[in-house]
Amino acid sequence: MAKKIAVIVGSLRKESYNRKIANELIRLADGKLDLQIVEIGNLSLYNEDSDQNPPQEWTDFRQQIKDSDGILIVSPEYNRTIPGALKNAIDVGSRPYGSSVWPGKPGAVITSSVSSLGGLAANHHIRQAFVFVDVPLMQQPEAYIGNSAKIFKEDGKTVVPDTEKFLQNFVDAFQKWVEKF
Ligand code: FNR
Repeated sequence: MAKKIAVIVGSLRKESYNRKIANELIRLADGKLDLQIVEIGNLSLYNEDSDQNPPQEWTDFRQQIKDSDGILIVSPEYNRTIPGALKNAIDVGSRPYGSSVWPGKPGAVITSSVSSLGGLAANHHIRQAFVFVDVPLMQQPEAYIGNSAKIFKEDGKTVVPDTEKFLQNFVDAFQKWVEKF
């Protein structure tokens, strides 16, 4: 059976390029990995005071991560770092202390940006947080997708052949990475 992967999109924007890239990864995984987007836009801001009586959406999110065999982050860069919504989701999953849902789940990170830098800084900041929450991340291939507004075909959904090849290689490598665990 295909391993179930929680895909977390760092942008909440309806027409998000990152969400479109995530949807392309779902298509290209072709059932070899069961990629499912886990929504983070409904998570209220993490506050330690609520650890004893957590809001339902935190509990649901934590359960969705617990039920997955791996984590795939597809995210933009905001002000040279991790978008707040994504960082909040990482924090929510990491607590209460001693009950983090992250440790040991194999992961991978893709960042994309409308600029040519491809969200490089955010990519490495996500990696930094994932070191601490003990998510073993695929090292290679790295994925910094620049000029994200220009990688889609006229349908606005599917990516141009060069990007498709790149994403296919990434998802195939991630499948191999997940299978090692
Ligand atoms: C951005 N953007 C951006 N791009 C970048 O390469 N480096 C950056 O530091 C930032 N900072 C930033 C901050 C904020 C608040 C916004 C809204 C945007 C531009 C960003 O790459 C662009 O908006 C992407 O299209 C966002 O991804 P989605 O929403 O299309 O997935």
